[in-house]
Amino acid sequence: MCGIVGYIGSGNVYDILIKGLHRLEYRGYDSAGIALVNDAGKLAVYKAKGKVHNLEEYCNDKPKEEAVAGIAHTRWATHGEPSDHNAHPHYSEDGNLALVHNGTIENYQLLKDALIEQGCTFKSETDTEVLVQLIEYIKVKNDCSLLDAVRKALHEVVGAYAIAVLEKDNPDTIIAARKSSPLVVGIGDGEFLLASDATPIVEYTKDVVYLKDEEIAILQRGKPIQLVTLENEKAEIDVKKLELSISQLEKGGFPHFMLKEIFEQPKTLLDCIRGRVIDNGKKVMVNGVIDNKLKFIRAKRIVIVACGTSWHAALIGKYLLQDMCKIPVAVEYASEFRYSRPVLDNNDVVIAISQSGETADTLAAVKIARKMGAFVYGISNVVGSSIPRETDSGTYIHVGPEIGVASTKAFTGQVMVLTMLALSVAQLRGTMTDKEITEIAREILTIPEKVDNILKTLNEKVKNMSLIYTYARNFLYLGRGYSYPVALEGALKLKEISYVHAEGYPAAEMKHGPIALIDEEMPSVIIAPKDHLYDKIVNNVQQVKARGGSIIAVVTEGDDLISQIADHVLEVPKVSECLTPIITSIPLQLISYYIAINKGKNVDMPRNLAKSVTVE
Ligand code: G6P
Repeated sequence: MCGIVGYIGSGNVYDILIKGLHRLEYRGYDSAGIALVNDAGKLAVYKAKGKVHNLEEYCNDKPKEEAVAGIAHTRWATHGEPSDHNAHPHYSEDGNLALVHNGTIENYQLLKDALIEQGCTFKSETDTEVLVQLIEYIKVKNDCSLLDAVRKALHEVVGAYAIAVLEKDNPDTIIAARKSSPLVVGIGDGEFLLASDATPIVEYTKDVVYLKDEEIAILQRGKPIQLVTLENEKAEIDVKKLELSISQLEKGGFPHFMLKEIFEQPKTLLDCIRGRVIDNGKKVMVNGVIDNKLKFIRAKRIVIVACGTSWHAALIGKYLLQDMCKIPVAVEYASEFRYSRPVLDNNDVVIAISQSGETADTLAAVKIARKMGAFVYGISNVVGSSIPRETDSGTYIHVGPEIGVASTKAFTGQVMVLTMLALSVAQLRGTMTDKEITEIAREILTIPEKVDNILKTLNEKVKNMSLIYTYARNFLYLGRGYSYPVALEGALKLKEISYVHAEGYPAAEMKHGPIALIDEEMPSVIIAPKDHLYDKIVNNVQQVKARGGSIIAVVTEGDDLISQIADHVLEVPKVSECLTPIITSIPLQLISYYIAINKGKNVDMPRNLAKSVTVE
């Protein structure tokens, strides 16, 4: 949520920052801006409403070649509408400082009132302008360095921040700091890059330092990086090597990242399974589980916390863990959990699922659960992100960077990790026989190929079928058991990128309300693989048909019952019940993609959304 880039070095500052903003645009894209400083002490700020290319157009005729350092920002609005004047960077009133910010300053109104009393005036409605004015006010009043002013100001602030500050009279330095919002420094050859994640950095250097909460980085031309705490104590510099490649950040011939990521799933699932299902399926080794086996053996309960798509994966995790490990599982929205006065103790295992590893609510839930003594396990995609660092242990899904805002390959990766985790825990708790575990594990090894076949056989079919449904204004997605969270996720995908109202429901629950909505204008997408609830869902399909609703059914190959009732049938290969969610999700991803494309929507950057939600 909001992307920050910074650069200091001998490269072309403007070009590097703009390229970085494009890489981070998935984090927010309602306005963008850039601040450039040159050796003569000229600090220029250029901003434009809309996407980064609007900023580029605006900057076309602006002087930028002489810049020696700069900071830039792509915004997802929290305080104040998307507009030129609310875009970052924000100047201090005297024009001495420019600042970019990701996060929210909760006590900004209090600070703003105090500054107004001191005579400050404001140009924007943002909390960010308050912060830059506060820093400048402290700097002037105490006649101190920028670093000291930043430290003092951050002591006053309640909330979350990742910031970068540039000073007019000190073009050799960028000061950056973080608390609860991510920030990474890239250490190049005589240059520093700074960004909200590593994607703008990877083409310049693989050496990075992930800032910790309440750390400040001092990036000076010609000097090594320095890190201090808010108390001005030296902090440890832990340089990590990036394992990211540039090709992972490009579309590779696909028209959109979302389609690329859907089609990558055979490979990403393979990467996710690699080294975890071993000896041709004889064993499942999830290291984070094995290393903490007593925690999982003794656990009286598992609580899973997540948001958005990850929450849907969590619901599937509940079915998996209950079925395989015979352990009670509760699934909570992280945003509700954190304020629900949760009851937890050291007999509980809490699993936090987050693709980005940065979602503010999930991160807060992790901190609360640890404080209460629970063992906290993270399932994440982004190496080095906050959640993996704050949890006791965990597993990466290893699906590579997901750029499309609507999650696809990360969802199937999360479900795959949860499946392997449940098998691994079942092994330890003795709740499944070795034979049962091996059977599922062997089948897991066939899933990437099955997903590949689904994509090959259904892509054109769904593309054509989508034309019929493009103008439906409401959709119902129905499923039972493992297919119920799949229905929720299918509906969310359609909502997110095509702006069509879609509701996911447990199929049997439909008769308690949503059935009233069904008519010939409201299609239902029914997820009905051959599982132990198949006969039950057949009844629900009949109930929809009897009310004139059209039906798109996702069924197991060879289905001859629902196939006769449904208007459109999408067949997927037969797999064990616990593996159906991965298989049945694929056609639903394609449905939402093609409907959104037919409607001319920007599937990779849908309106109002952001990929990484680092605010409450
Ligand atoms: C945002 C994204 C969703 C994602 C959710 C949770 O809303 O647009 O795709 O599912 O955040 O993100 P996380 O990174 O925690 O999985």
